[in-house]
Amino acid sequence: MTAFHQRVFSGVQPTGNLHLGNYLGAIRRFVDLQDSYECIYCVVDMHAITVAQDPAELTANIREVTAAFIACGIDPKKHIVFNQSQVAEHAELAWIFNCIARIGWLNRMTQFKEKAGKDRENASVGLYAYPTLMAADILVYRATHVPVGEDQKQHLELSRDIAQKFNNDYAASITRLTGSDAFFPLPEPLIQGPAPRVMSLRDGTKKMSKSDPSDYSRLTFADDADAIAQKVRKAKTDPEPLPSEAAGLSGRPEAENLVTIYAALADVPRDAVLAQFGGAQFSSFKNALVDVAVAKLGPISAEMKKLQADPAHIDAVLRDGSIRAREIARPVMESVKDIVGFIRG
Ligand code: AMP
Ligand code: TRP
Repeated sequence: MTAFHQRVFSGVQPTGNLHLGNYLGAIRRFVDLQDSYECIYCVVDMHAITVAQDPAELTANIREVTAAFIACGIDPKKHIVFNQSQVAEHAELAWIFNCIARIGWLNRMTQFKEKAGKDRENASVGLYAYPTLMAADILVYRATHVPVGEDQKQHLELSRDIAQKFNNDYAASITRLTGSDAFFPLPEPLIQGPAPRVMSLRDGTKKMSKSDPSDYSRLTFADDADAIAQKVRKAKTDPEPLPSEAAGLSGRPEAENLVTIYAALADVPRDAVLAQFGGAQFSSFKNALVDVAVAKLGPISAEMKKLQADPAHIDAVLRDGSIRAREIARPVMESVKDIVGFIRG
C-alpha cells in the first residue's frame, strides 16, 4: 500500500457562537497536534452557507473563527490557516466527489436529517452534499489525520469511503499515471481527547451546539467572567451530591458533563476531579468550575478581542494561508484531472 505524507487537516464553520464544545472537542486538539504534524486549519465558509447566512455576519464570523484559532495557540506561520472559499480547488474536487459518492451513502447521514428537520424538501442541495465538500477539503491536501469532535465521525467515514471508491474506480489510471496503487489516503479521524462530546448546560443528553436557541446552553468565547459564572450556576444538575468514583456518574448525564468539562479545562483526569469533589454539593463544585473556566477562557477571549480589532491583519493571515494552501492543492487537483481523463491546458 502506498505510504502517504502525514498531514493534519480540520475545519470549523464560521456560524457564530463558537463554544466550549468547539474548543475542547476540536480547537484545543488542533493546537496540540502542531508539535507532531504539518497542520492545515480551515474556516469552512462554503459549508456555512448550506444554511442561510447574513453576509455581513458571515464576514465577521470568518474573522472570529480565525481569531479563535490564533488566540488558542495555532501558529499561522508554521502551519496553514485560511478560509475555504479562497482555494477554488475545494469546490472543484467536491464536484468530482459528487460523482463518486452514492445517493444511498448521503441518505444515511444523520447530520443532514437533524439539520434539515421536518421540511426536508426545502433544505438546500448544498446541505445534502455537505459531506462530499468535506471529503474534498481533506483529500485535496491528501491529509491523513483529521481531528474532530464525535459528531463528525460519520462524515469522516464517508470521506474514507469516497477516497476508497475513487482509488478503486480509477485504479488502472492511477497505476498508469503515478505508478502507485492508491491516489488518496484513507483519512483517519482523531476523536480521542478529554471531551470529544461536550453536552448542553441545560440538558445533559443534548450536545452543546451553536444553534441551540438558549444562550444558557453553552459557554462561548464571547462570555465575560460574569456571564460564565451565571451560566455555570444556572446549569442543570440533579439533587445528589457528586460521586467519588466514575461509576457513580452513570445515569447522571448533567453531572457527568460538568465533571468532564472541569477535568478537560483543568487538564486533570476525571478520577482526580471525583476524588477531590466526591460528596460535595453542586453549589461548591460549580464555584470551582467557574474559577477554572474563567482562568482558561478569559485570556483567550481577551486575545480574540484584540485580534478582531484589527480585521486587516486577520485578512492578511487568511490571504497568506490561502496562497500556501493552494500550492498544495493545485498539483493534487491537476493529478485528479489527469486520472479522471480531463484535458488540461
Ligand atoms: P462546527 O462548529 O460544527 O464547525 O464544529 C467545529 C468542530 O467542533 C468539529 O470538530 C466538531 O466536531 C466540534 N464540536 C462541535 N460541537 C461539539 C461538542 N458539543 N462537543 C465536542 N466537539 C464539538
Ligand atoms: N463538518 C465539520 C463540522 O461541522 C466542519 C468541516 C468541514 C470539517 N470540512 C471539514 C472538519 C474537514 C474536518 C475536516 O464540524
